Amino acid sequence: MTNDLPIGVFDSGVGGLTVAKEIMLRLPKESLLYFGDTARVPYGNKSEETVIAYSRQIARFLCSHSVKAIVIACNTASAFALDTLSAELPVPVIGVVKPGAKAAAAITKTGNIGVIATSGTIRSGLYGRYLRSISPDVHVFGQACPLFVPLVEEGLQNDPVTRTMAERYLTPLLSKGVDTLVLGCTHYPLLTEVIGEVAGPDVTLVNPAYETAKELASMLAGRGLLKTSDTPSAHRFFVSDGEEQFRRFANSILPCELEEADVNRKVFS
Ligand code: DGL
Repeated sequence: MTNDLPIGVFDSGVGGLTVAKEIMLRLPKESLLYFGDTARVPYGNKSEETVIAYSRQIARFLCSHSVKAIVIACNTASAFALDTLSAELPVPVIGVVKPGAKAAAAITKTGNIGVIATSGTIRSGLYGRYLRSISPDVHVFGQACPLFVPLVEEGLQNDPVTRTMAERYLTPLLSKGVDTLVLGCTHYPLLTEVIGEVAGPDVTLVNPAYETAKELASMLAGRGLLKTSDTPSAHRFFVSDGEEQFRRFANSILPCELEEADVNRKVFS
């Protein structure tokens, strides 16, 4: 029965686990099939062509395991590959950029919205395009924050060096008077505390991972694809390298225990 099939979720590595976590919390009955492309991370500094090629390989792998929908849990891959995958795949595909943009457009009062993300996502201009398609009058200010991903992966969320970088990255946006800030990269919700402190109480942070889980729930409900049986959820994780490191990271953020992830490089062929 299609409803009981898992939801495919993929990312360039561990970052998409922030999205997987929100999906698990919102849709606890659903099962996830997660692929983290840990051998080829980061995607954030790669070309559009490369990111589309990688995303296509992974999406096909997930479809070969019979998933009922695919969530592109990576902002960079969502920015570059959503249209391609939506056109090519036999199942519904959602990315994290549109839900994040929709929430930011609804929240802003001044119309000045900041977007922080990888260089690739900022270069794509997609957050700005979605935001302006929803509210033509908004002003969108983008800032690439390339050091945030390695800082999170090194476990330096609460380190002074991360605060210094947050100040450096956010100052230009704050000087534009943004009242809403989109955390447009999978890793940034893990920096909510420091980013929130630096941005101050007048700036609302938007977490696209949270918004995507909400959007996924309503998309599945709308298409009659929510899980109907009472069998417990069973998640499966694949990585293309570094299983142990992935598992450690996963167990520090997921609401369930991950005992093992399968290493799979067949997707590359
Ligand atoms: N997952 C990526 C994103 O959300 C961040 C890590 C990377 O650069 O691959 O854009």
